[in-house]
Amino acid sequence: MQEGQFSRTALGAAGHRAAHQVLEDGRFFADPLALSILGDEAQEAIDKARNEPLRRGLRLFIALRSRFAEDAAHAAIARGTRQIVVLGAGLDTFAYRLAPQADLHVFEIDHPATQAEKRRRLAAADIAEPAHAVYVGCDFERESFVDTLTRAGFDKTRPAFFIWLGVTAYLTHEAVMATLAAIAALPGGAEIVFDYVVPLEAIERASARAARRQLAAKVAAAGEPLRAEFDPPALRAALAALGFNEIEERGSEEIAARYGPKPTRRGAGARLIRAAKAPRAASSLGRR
Ligand SMILES: C[S@@+](CC[C@H](N)C(=O)[O-])C[C@H]1O[C@@H](n2cnc3c(N)ncnc32)[C@H](O)[C@@H]1O
Repeated sequence: MQEGQFSRTALGAAGHRAAHQVLEDGRFFADPLALSILGDEAQEAIDKARNEPLRRGLRLFIALRSRFAEDAAHAAIARGTRQIVVLGAGLDTFAYRLAPQADLHVFEIDHPATQAEKRRRLAAADIAEPAHAVYVGCDFERESFVDTLTRAGFDKTRPAFFIWLGVTAYLTHEAVMATLAAIAALPGGAEIVFDYVVPLEAIERASARAARRQLAAKVAAAGEPLRAEFDPPALRAALAALGFNEIEERGSEEIAARYGPKPTRRGAGARLIRAAKAPRAASSLGRR
């Protein structure tokens, strides 16, 4: 990312969610705030989506990954989880659509510059910052986000649900694995939904490889080049080695099949994972 600058890819992802509300009537992911958080730039995103039909695949994946993550987050909240952490939140609006509940906290972690721009946009759109929203500035490449989060009121001994969408591909492999290891080490137990990309050579379909090359060129030009790529079996093995005992993985076509849209044949090799780790036994918690 460009030092001190608002993330351009955060704007891009928000544009896809906004366009989905209009082009597909938000059928697969309804986000009533997706247009307003973009302000005047919403129309631009919609026009771009209309004029470039090949953007449909990425738009649907971005909408569906939020749907998948939020469905899992709602299930966790229903089971009693009261700490939600949105890593690299960008212009994500989950916290602002969530009904207030006693004891609920939604921690949004992001680069300070992106976070400041988001809060400016929230104010401009008259979207209230709910009491459960906690803003935490952090650079995953430079600091331990758990320490920063704890200083902001996060309780490591209580269960937490993490949403990490559209971020791992922009980090180094080491930063991604360090973040996953930190989450796995939380004594209160954790569940995470995140997406990642497979290496270009692992994408079978030529149209999908072309989509990846286009995406890579575009984000590099925006100063946020693609970096970490993962081989699916190796990543699942690494998650298991970290102690995640429940691992669910879906490719873009599988996620489309689950929620309904006609699967796109141009998925750029992006995949989604939900992984959960049970809390440490109370006896060992006491011995920490
Ligand atoms: C493509 S955007 C995704 C935003 C949001 N999760 C979404 O789905 O719309 C990437 C996000 O990762 C954040 N990010 C990238 N590198 C980061 C880093 N090293 N530390 C903290 N945040 C980072 C950016 O600020 C941006 O919000």
